[in-house]
Amino acid sequence: MTAFDLLVVGDANPDVLLAGAPAVPPYGQAETLVASGTLALGGSAAIVAHGAARLGISTALAAQVGRDAAGDFVLDTLTSAGVDITAVTRHPDLPTALTVCLGGPDGDRAILTAPGCLAAFDPRELPPARHIHAASYFLQPNLAARLPELFRTATATTSLDTNHDPSGRWQLAPGLLEACDYVLPNEAEALALTGTTSVDEALKAFAESGVTPVVKRGRHGAAAQHAGQTHTARLAPLEPVDTVGAGDSFDAGFLAALLNGEGLDRALAVGCACGALSTQGLGGTAAQPTWEQAVALGLSPG
Ligand SMILES: Nc1ncnc2c1ncn2[C@@H]1O[C@H](COP(=O)(O)OP(=O)(O)OP(=O)(O)O)[C@@H](O)[C@H]1O
Ligand SMILES: [Mg+2]
Repeated sequence: MTAFDLLVVGDANPDVLLAGAPAVPPYGQAETLVASGTLALGGSAAIVAHGAARLGISTALAAQVGRDAAGDFVLDTLTSAGVDITAVTRHPDLPTALTVCLGGPDGDRAILTAPGCLAAFDPRELPPARHIHAASYFLQPNLAARLPELFRTATATTSLDTNHDPSGRWQLAPGLLEACDYVLPNEAEALALTGTTSVDEALKAFAESGVTPVVKRGRHGAAAQHAGQTHTARLAPLEPVDTVGAGDSFDAGFLAALLNGEGLDRALAVGCACGALSTQGLGGTAAQPTWEQAVALGLSPG
């Protein structure tokens, strides 16, 4: 089997995005009209895989969905984008995970997720790839249990975006960071995972495990630490339409750039461009750029 450039392992689900919701929706069987509703591909791993395929990277996703219409939607959307879904399994009984994102006043939002078959995902046979990226560590205990060995024995380079820990414990398996080449948290996740209070301290704490940390900082760009040096990238902030999936689109851009042979500084810049551009459309995937668009924004001189 020819190796893929990128194998993404993790979560995949539809996102139902409602904009213009009241801060507290009235109950009592009241029907409330909102400004807009969008059905989009969600799940951090699925958004990363979609973004990488859009950037021209040969990409496979290993994930689990149910035997239901939500699962069909996920698989159809990924296939249309050119992502290989041979390693996506369908749970015989449990439904596909489903997220409802309520966009309330002042850009704030509530995110409700029914995890469905997510926690049961147990990746076994994975296709060969040059790089393996794992997403949403804390939502998938079976994947989490397998990950240290998977990363330790991989001939591929490896990366991890834990995303949020709903349990609030933020505990990674012993040896996981040591077996991982890049860890890609946002700022709040970086502080929680390291028990620190600043990005600089978090970068230092991660680097002690030998991993290269890349911390995503929203409109402030991103910061990384490698071989004792701090690297940063920042573009002019954009007024976001919707920030869902910005971090995942950053991951796709950062990894695509590394796979295309770029160094750390240029990979950070391409990641920032992909994160920024993804905020210009509703949902995680609608505004993901091509490689040419990402390079034009991230690597243009001046
Ligand atoms: N308003 C913005 N303007 C410019 N760039 C942005 C903006 N918001 C996000 N980005 C870019 O996208 C990257 C990822 O965003 P963020 O730090 O919000 O990640 P995240 O919290 O992991 O997102 P997610 O909600 O997808 O998990 C940032 O590092 C930055 O490069
Ligand atoms: Mg994230």
